[in-house]
Amino acid sequence: MLAGPVTTKPDGNALALADVRKQFGETTVLKGIDLAAEDGELVVLVGPSGCGKSTLLRCLAGLETPDHGTIRIGERDVTRLPPKERDVAMVFQSYALYPHLTVRRNLAFGLELRKTPARTIDKRVTEVAGMLGLEALLDRYPRELSGGQRQRVAMGRAIARRPSLFLFDEPLSNLDAALRTEVRIEIKRLHHQLRTTMVYVTHDQEEAMTLADRLVVLNGGVVEQQGPAIDVYREPATRFVGSFLGSPAMSFLPAEAKEGTLTVGDATFDSESAHRGPCTVGLRTHDVVVDPDGPLTLEVRVVETLGHATHAHGVVEGHPFVARLHGDQRPAPGDEVRLRPVYVHLFDPESGARIRR
Ligand SMILES: Nc1ncnc2c1ncn2[C@@H]1O[C@H](COP(=O)(O)OP(=O)(O)OP(=O)(O)O)[C@@H](O)[C@H]1O
Ligand SMILES: [Mg+2]
Repeated sequence: MLAGPVTTKPDGNALALADVRKQFGETTVLKGIDLAAEDGELVVLVGPSGCGKSTLLRCLAGLETPDHGTIRIGERDVTRLPPKERDVAMVFQSYALYPHLTVRRNLAFGLELRKTPARTIDKRVTEVAGMLGLEALLDRYPRELSGGQRQRVAMGRAIARRPSLFLFDEPLSNLDAALRTEVRIEIKRLHHQLRTTMVYVTHDQEEAMTLADRLVVLNGGVVEQQGPAIDVYREPATRFVGSFLGSPAMSFLPAEAKEGTLTVGDATFDSESAHRGPCTVGLRTHDVVVDPDGPLTLEVRVVETLGHATHAHGVVEGHPFVARLHGDQRPAPGDEVRLRPVYVHLFDPESGARIRR
């Protein structure tokens, strides 16, 4: 391998996965993943536990080999390349720093392995320490750092290598809420600065929405939906995606669509959909407003007070339902609250597919 900095590929570092499959014994974990990201995009991968997110990331890193399909970074087919030839850096949930090395040596380690000249290493370490605010910590050992500082060093180690592709597997899940927000903003800033393609796995809704250029929702080893994050949120392609994004989750009510109206149990309200017949109405917590003349009646069971908002959990027409109310509206369990839907998602009751207007 050539010494010295990795040169940027002239064709950019777009990412393209075609029909990637992976099986462990009898279990098929990835069932034909097609995924595309443009050069420099930040792709966020979400999905329930066990759906194959880490397996997919490990296939990208070269830690697993797919049984089928291809993985391309730019023009390169990397499907069967060993990790060290892929020019990919991965950051895990656990920081995995070398405890006996200082921050400076931890940052330099990957470059030393690649026989990068000492002067280049010094320059890169200084640069990365500057980006991540680690200058004052360079001579400390990992045990002398806070969790957030350690995670910053782990990211710095990946950045110092200037890879073609960054992979992050829940890198912030060990941090407390405040630090998570702080480091998340740092990652966003770094991505703007570096413009390197990134694939980022998270369980955190807010992290997913705030970081993603492109959001990919994985379920049971298949991609349920991918696209610009806001599009996936606003127009979930399936009931699963609707229920997965947003917290508390979207509520679902069985309904009957007629000319210009939707009927749920005893309640009927206007609809602009051209659909006729049975359907499932999906309402996010903020898709309803309190209105004394509203068609839906929420029988309140549990009230969560957040300060700026109130989550009223209960039942509408016999089905579980959550509504987000204003912070000043705090009903008591047992109360009835009249609601008016302001934005309605419709799904096919059989397939769960979105019904488009
Ligand atoms: N080396 C392996 N051998 C056998 N089964 C495995 C192996 N690695 C993963 N699996 C299985 O593959 C499935 C997907 O695992 P994976 O770690 O990709 O899920 P995940 O989406 O990252 O979940 P989580 O959100 O909990 O991290 C799981 O059922 C897991 O038990
Ligand atoms: Mg995982």
